[in-house]
Amino acid sequence: MVGVSVLGISGSVGSSTVKVLRQFRDQFSLRSFSVHSNWEIAKSLVLEFSPEVICITDPKLVGQFGDSFGSTKILYGDENLSELVKLPNVAVVVTAVVGARGVLPTIAAIEAGKKIAIANKETLVTFGPLINQLVAKHKTLMVPVDSEHNALFQLIERETRSNIRAITLTASGGSFRTLPIEALEHVSVKQALNHPTWSMGPKITVDSAGLINKGLEVIEAHFLFGFSFDEIEVVIHPQSLTHGIIETLDGACLQYTSHPDMVYPIAHSLFYPNPTPQMLIERKPSTWKTLEFFPPDTKRYPGLDLAFQAGRAGGVAPCIYNAANEEAVALFLEEKISFTTIPRLIESALNQITNVFPETLEGYLEKDKETRNYIQKEFKKGGVTT
Ligand SMILES: NC(=O)c1ccc[n+]([C@@H]2O[C@H](COP(=O)([O-])OP(=O)(O)OC[C@H]3O[C@@H](n4cnc5c(N)ncnc54)[C@H](OP(=O)(O)O)[C@@H]3O)[C@@H](O)[C@H]2O)c1
Repeated sequence: MVGVSVLGISGSVGSSTVKVLRQFRDQFSLRSFSVHSNWEIAKSLVLEFSPEVICITDPKLVGQFGDSFGSTKILYGDENLSELVKLPNVAVVVTAVVGARGVLPTIAAIEAGKKIAIANKETLVTFGPLINQLVAKHKTLMVPVDSEHNALFQLIERETRSNIRAITLTASGGSFRTLPIEALEHVSVKQALNHPTWSMGPKITVDSAGLINKGLEVIEAHFLFGFSFDEIEVVIHPQSLTHGIIETLDGACLQYTSHPDMVYPIAHSLFYPNPTPQMLIERKPSTWKTLEFFPPDTKRYPGLDLAFQAGRAGGVAPCIYNAANEEAVALFLEEKISFTTIPRLIESALNQITNVFPETLEGYLEKDKETRNYIQKEFKKGGVTT
């Protein structure tokens, strides 16, 4: 039995992880998990899996549900997420909370010698150099859960690294791929949340609509696999069937294709380095009639170029890109700014905030905070936001 901890179990990745755990009950045991505020899901999962400890992170709920439920201990607050991952009988930690707040429990899990199934891309984008140092120091096994990175991880593993010329991440193009560009200024939150192929949480769905999710993933791929930004490409692939492509020196392109369902990469990351046993979901290549690929339109998706710029600049530029985006997307979801203001705010933050190359977590956290304050100030001023 492999003990599993899931941070953010009530979200989209969390729910897909539960599906995998249900399918392989004889191999995995859910030992701990967190939700932010979703007590109903927490309660039903405690009844189903009897974990040792759970954590409710919403500060408004501290103490609300007592300190135990049956034999399960209840902790409260972000600061206790690290306790969940350090449990001695947890071997794998699935990081599925949304946003850069995933960093402290991720570091705790690395230091405690756990295998990390990393879905929480914002942590890697923001703190990439630091996380990589820790991963190297503790010889951590970190397996990407993001479908594109999981696909690339599997492809790269099967090829000689020096024989790979470039890697390609596919993008569905999001909710507005075919909308006239002039109409983007006026799209609603509801329209942005209507993703054509994937069912995901609200933040990543908005990120996908502007290809900022792909921007984050380009930076994530750089930190995970060590390819330079000139060796990473993005293609629009509306069918979301091919997730990653590697190009070898002889010009061959090897692609990983599967139905757009997060259970594949999650199961792979849980079982790795062992092979994933047969899954109960259908694979029907005969139904994949079309696989289209074309380059992204930079006018439609300005946030993608900004990610490449931030990635190439290095230092805290990716941290600024991520924090500005998190704040801007939250404002968009609250219907306070337009959709097209999101990349404008990110660009402004990248231009106005000084880039530095910190050696400590505190250095990154300071820039993260400075960026969030900057975006809130810009919003209140009404500058780029109008
Ligand atoms: N969804 C996908 O298919 C997908 C694919 C690849 C990578 N990812 C990445 O995986 C991560 C999670 O995405 P998601 O789509 O699963 O997000 P989601 O559906 O919004 O779920 C987010 C999870 O984080 C918890 N949470 C929310 N606010 C929090 C806070 N302030 N502190 C601690 N926990 C908090 C939520 O708890 P409550 O439910 O109680 O609010 C929920 O469990 C993101 O980094 C995303 O980029 C997602």
